[in-house]
Amino acid sequence: PSLDAFIAGLPKAELHLHIEGSLEPELMFALAQRNRIALPFKSVEEVRAAYEFSNLQDFLDIYYQGADVLRTEQDFHDLAKAYFDRAHADSVRHAEIFFDPQTHTDRGIPMSVVMDGLTSGMKAAEAEYGLTSKLILCFLRHLDEDAAFATLKAAEPFLDRLTGVGLDSSEVGHPPSKFTRVFDAAGALGLKKVAHAGEEGPPEYVHEALDILKVDRIDHGNRSLEDAHLTSRLARLGMTLTVCPLSNLKLCVVTDMAQHPIRTMLNKGLRATLNSDDPAYFGGYVNDNYRAVAASGLVDRDDLITLARNSFLGSFLGDAEVFRHL
Ligand code: HPA
Ligand code: ZN
Repeated sequence: PSLDAFIAGLPKAELHLHIEGSLEPELMFALAQRNRIALPFKSVEEVRAAYEFSNLQDFLDIYYQGADVLRTEQDFHDLAKAYFDRAHADSVRHAEIFFDPQTHTDRGIPMSVVMDGLTSGMKAAEAEYGLTSKLILCFLRHLDEDAAFATLKAAEPFLDRLTGVGLDSSEVGHPPSKFTRVFDAAGALGLKKVAHAGEEGPPEYVHEALDILKVDRIDHGNRSLEDAHLTSRLARLGMTLTVCPLSNLKLCVVTDMAQHPIRTMLNKGLRATLNSDDPAYFGGYVNDNYRAVAASGLVDRDDLITLARNSFLGSFLGDAEVFRHL
């Protein structure tokens, strides 16, 4: 097959996807209309034109603003189902999706509305496509530890629908160690743990995520490569990195795709995966990310198979389910 057809048909898991970041401008307008909310944009084109970012914070400001149209259980259902429709078209067989409850509960949306809408979208995707999914609750790291604890408490009634906790939002100045106790509490509840680290923050934050938060995966992890000991430690651990090439390009974490660290990561034996992060904002879903690194000449077809295999190996599926996909 052509390279495009090869990527399109390659079964894969997606492990780094913020569901609020899959809100396409068309759905944003539809929900604004349904909920009678005035948007600061006149058209879908105007929204897309605003998606020019020079760093993570630039993006976060507009991303939190976009999420304001999400009000009802139906909104969260529609958001999730729209993502799963796109993921299914990209041969995604399993997805572990992040959500940011604080973005919603701080606007007065009850946790139950968010949870019920997202989980009904997940159920619909499994029924329609056999696409399985898991939910990871992310704490906003620019907010304080007390707020994270309150969020964990508000999520406890829904524990059976959660697989793990994560850490996202503004990285620099908000090290993993700020959330030591809340991650300990989440671990005691039986939840898996992941954290964004080494996207804009230094290798030291990746060390903290491993040593202090005891994470099961690192989200992004790009800057780990600046530290040779950390790099070999990640390789030795078989630690999964959920890498997001188009996100890295849009947020100026890399200057051009040919400079992306994915090649070095594979050369160093790191268990890297490819993911879309916030596809509606970064110009592509997971297959666009596979195509972008392939087109830049960084990876060949064998590497693409390795990356897809890593996505199942790095998932929180049980062994029997992982083997079913390999
Ligand atoms: N980094 C940090 N926070 C985020 C991201 C990201 O890439 N996407 C959505 N929230
Ligand atoms: Zn992310």
